[in-house]
Amino acid sequence: MKLKDKVAIVTGSTSGMGRATAELFAREGARVVVTGRNEDRAKEVVEKIKDEGHEAIYVIANMLDLEDVKKIFDRTIEEYGTVDILVNNAGMLSTTPIQDLSVEEWENTFRVNVTAPLYLAQLVAPIMKEKGKGVIINTSSVAGAHAHHGTAAYVSSKHALAGLSKSMAWELGPEIRVNSILPGAIMTAMLESVGGEAAVPHLVEGSPLKRVGASEEIAKAALFLASDDSSFITGQLIRVDGGIDI
Ligand SMILES: NC(=O)c1ccc[n+]([C@@H]2O[C@H](COP(=O)([O-])OP(=O)(O)OC[C@H]3O[C@@H](n4cnc5c(N)ncnc54)[C@H](OP(=O)(O)O)[C@@H]3O)[C@@H](O)[C@H]2O)c1
Repeated sequence: MKLKDKVAIVTGSTSGMGRATAELFAREGARVVVTGRNEDRAKEVVEKIKDEGHEAIYVIANMLDLEDVKKIFDRTIEEYGTVDILVNNAGMLSTTPIQDLSVEEWENTFRVNVTAPLYLAQLVAPIMKEKGKGVIINTSSVAGAHAHHGTAAYVSSKHALAGLSKSMAWELGPEIRVNSILPGAIMTAMLESVGGEAAVPHLVEGSPLKRVGASEEIAKAALFLASDDSSFITGQLIRVDGGIDI
């Protein structure tokens, strides 16, 4: 098992890639902290992990609210006494064109996609530093490397998260490795909310693999980055996108 006895927080793990990552980490021996706003789905994920014979708890938290974000950290320490892995996966999509974008939508997108990951990293880092070891994974996006029409707040926030990951790698190392995953089009509720595969032909036809990805394919990349298999990798933006725009 690659994560035996590790404690892993996976934000936004009531659905999609976060859920797949939480389930895979648990199968690899981690005690997992599942988070999201939807309690029914959070319970379902934790029950599935426990049914498979592994350990998990959930914390209901809205990443817009930093007090909620702190609750994730506090509950993790209360239950498990430590933390080894943080996956900042929860994300908010914004599809409003620039001329119609309100300051509120812009700020909320940044709050969920950048501020909450920063704040959680600030909370877990002292523990990881003291242990001499830790891993942070930030889920950016191909939108963290390229812009597309009508998604300025999302694109800007995911670029910011990719940049923040590199800064974290410098400042939190050498004890903590920090990498960012840049998923391409992955078949999840978020993609379905904008029309599914049909809405992103540029991401499918524009890639050598000519398909959307599955959440499990992101989870496997996260496992690689969370485990010692990637012990000499930090500060990287790892694209898991079928080869878009190569
Ligand atoms: N799907 C794609 O094609 C794609 C591509 C590139 C990057 N991404 C990124 O990948 C990450 C995961 O997205 P996904 O596609 O797996 O989407 P998803 O299935 O919709 O899952 C999103 C997760 O984030 C949580 N979440 C969203 N807003 C939240 C908030 N304000 N507070 C707390 N939790 C919140 C959701 O939990 P609740 O619903 O329970 O609150 C859910 O668990 C995101 O950062 C997204 O930007 C997605």
